[in-house]
Amino acid sequence: MKGQFPIDKFGTLQTPFYYYDTRILRQTLEAIRQEVGKIENAVVHYAIKANANPQVLRTIREYGLGADCVSGGEIKAALQAGFSPDKIVFAGVGKADWEINLGLDHGIFCFNVESIPELEIINDLAAAKGVVAKVEFRVNPDVKAHTHANITTGMAENKFGIALGDIEYVIELASHMQNVKFIGLHFHIGSQILDMGDFAALCNRVNELQIQFEQHHIKIDNINVGGGLGVDYQHPNRQAIPDFREYFKTINTLIKRREGQVLHFEPGRSVVAQCGSLISKVLYVKQGTNKQFAILDAGMTDLIRPALYQAYHKIENITSELPIETYDVVGPICESSDVFGKAVDLNKTSRGDLIAIRSAGAYGEIMASQYNCRTLPHGYVTEDLF
Ligand code: LLP
Repeated sequence: MKGQFPIDKFGTLQTPFYYYDTRILRQTLEAIRQEVGKIENAVVHYAIKANANPQVLRTIREYGLGADCVSGGEIKAALQAGFSPDKIVFAGVGKADWEINLGLDHGIFCFNVESIPELEIINDLAAAKGVVAKVEFRVNPDVKAHTHANITTGMAENKFGIALGDIEYVIELASHMQNVKFIGLHFHIGSQILDMGDFAALCNRVNELQIQFEQHHIKIDNINVGGGLGVDYQHPNRQAIPDFREYFKTINTLIKRREGQVLHFEPGRSVVAQCGSLISKVLYVKQGTNKQFAILDAGMTDLIRPALYQAYHKIENITSELPIETYDVVGPICESSDVFGKAVDLNKTSRGDLIAIRSAGAYGEIMASQYNCRTLPHGYVTEDLF
C-alpha cells in the first residue's frame, strides 16, 4: 500500500483500469447530504454524464440523490441503478423521439426543454400517450463562468437554453398546450467553477427573472441551478471533498426563493472526480534528445481530458520509492496530443511500475473511446478488490 492505493490487490488486474475509492465517494456523498439537509425544499440530482459506472451509480443512489440525464441511455442507466423516476430530470438540446417516449413511459420528474420545436414534439408525443409531460425551460442566462472555454455553457453565444428575451413567450405558448405543464426554470452556466462569484451572478439573474415574471403573474415552482462546482485537481489528497458548504450556502442565501419553491442542483464532477484514478502500467522509459518519456499503457482513449481541454491531472508513480526524476508522461496512441503531462516529477520510473492519474472519476471512464481499436478500460470499486 503506497498512499491510499491497495497496490497488492492491483497485481492481477489488466491495466489500464479505473479505480474508484468508495470510502472517498461515501465521504463526499455524506458531505452533500449534510449540507443539503440544511436547506429547505432542496433536491440534488447527480449528473450521470460525469460517471455512469453501475456500482458508482448505485452508491450515489443509496444517499437519496436523484439523477440528471441527457440521453435515453442515461435514463436507462439511472433506472437500472434504482434511481426513482420521479427524481429524474432530462436535459439536452437534441432529444430524439424514442428518448422522449422513454421519459414519458417512466413518468420522469421533468423534461428540461431547450427550444420551441422541442416543446412542440414533447407535447405531441405526450398527447399520443394521453399523458401530460412536466417541463422546465432551460434559460440561457448569459452569465460568463470563469473556466475553460469548451465547458462554459451559459453565454448567449452557446447553443444551450432558450434566450432570456424569449422565455416569457415560451411560457405563454406552453400554457396553451394540452399535454405539457410548465413547472420551472433550469440553468447551468458551466463546469469546473471555483469562483463563487460566478454562482452569485447566476443567482442575481434568477432573481431578476423572478421579479419580471411576477409582474406578469407567472408562477415558478422549481428552480434548477444546474451543476458546475469544481474540484482541486492540483491537490487531490489535501482537498478530496469539495467545499459543498460554501457552494450550497452561496446559492441558498442569494436566490430569493418564493414560498414553496423547490431548489434543484445537478452536481456531477464534484461528486465523483476525486474518488477515481486511472491506473496504468509503464511500458517503456525512453530517452529523448533532452527529455525522458514515461510511456504508459493508458492513453487519451482512456482519459481524454488532458488532450481535449489541456486539463491538469496529478500523476504519481505508486510503486516506486526512488528519488524524483522528470518525465513527459505519454500514452501509446498515434496522436501527438496523447500526453498526460509534461515535465512531471515522478519517483524514478521503470518498466512495470504502476502510475495513478488522479482526480479522474469525473468525465474519465465515461468519455473513453476505442480509437486505435483499443479495449475500453474497466472500472473497479474498492469492494471488488476485497
Ligand atoms: N447540468 C447540466 C445541464 C450540464 O450540462 C452539466 C455538465 C452538469 C449539470 C454537470 O456539471 P458538473 O457539476 O459536472 O460541472 N467533459 C467536461 C465537462 C462537461 C460538462 C458538461 N455539462 C470535462 O471533462 O471537464
